[in-house]
Amino acid sequence: QQEYTKTQRWNGKKVLISAGPTRETVDAVRFFTNYSSGKMGYELAKAAAREGAEVHLVTGPTQLSAPAHVKLYQITTAEEMFNQMTLLYEDMDIVIKSAAVADYKPVKQTNKKMKKKDGNLFIELERTKDILKYLGDRKQKQYLVGFAAETEDILTYGKGKLEKKNLDAIVMNDISNKEIGFQSDFNEVIFLTRDGTEKKITKSKKEEIAKQLITFIENEIRKD
Ligand code: CTP
Ligand code: CA
Repeated sequence: QQEYTKTQRWNGKKVLISAGPTRETVDAVRFFTNYSSGKMGYELAKAAAREGAEVHLVTGPTQLSAPAHVKLYQITTAEEMFNQMTLLYEDMDIVIKSAAVADYKPVKQTNKKMKKKDGNLFIELERTKDILKYLGDRKQKQYLVGFAAETEDILTYGKGKLEKKNLDAIVMNDISNKEIGFQSDFNEVIFLTRDGTEKKITKSKKEEIAKQLITFIENEIRKD
């Protein structure tokens, strides 16, 4: 169904979106990941495409089907997401980072299957690169939007990330509420810009949240 009668607002705009979890290999059969479903990022990609944008979606493993009219890049690890996003970054007008990137990966990875032994197992983890911070530090024309998943002090942590990663805006969500957020079709978010515009979207379908976020971003870009 075509519900859009208004003209497309993002014709000619290049949009880069990241979605889903990353997966960090331990051995041939095991990995570390998180509960991200990818839904928020996929809905953002669809909403941006409906506005006429050229959309590039870099995604970790999800159960979702590829959205129409979107260029899809399937990656597995945080490092692969970093490589794909940095490759595309320079040309982009708008970048939205909704992926749930692993903060740590195993220091040692093996393609064999680890055998169990007596006693406890310790797996040493090292930090992955902060992709969003890397992009923020190298920002030129891009309007850069991050996400923040928090279980407490949402506004304080969210604002901290906005500053530290040199973002133009951040979308904060409370993942302690199981009805919304990770895995759910619903979410409830606060959109906050660098210059202090704050907009709350109460519990809605992720599709609806995506549409509203695109409108907020559009309004901010038009201000500049
Ligand atoms: N992010 C990223 N690369 C990482 C970790 C996070 O690009 N290695 C991005 C996420 O995609 C998101 C934003 O940074 O847009 C915030 O992620 P979040 O996990 O909420 O915050 P962190 O900075 O990782 O801090 P912490 O997990 O300690 O709260
Ligand atoms: Ca994190």
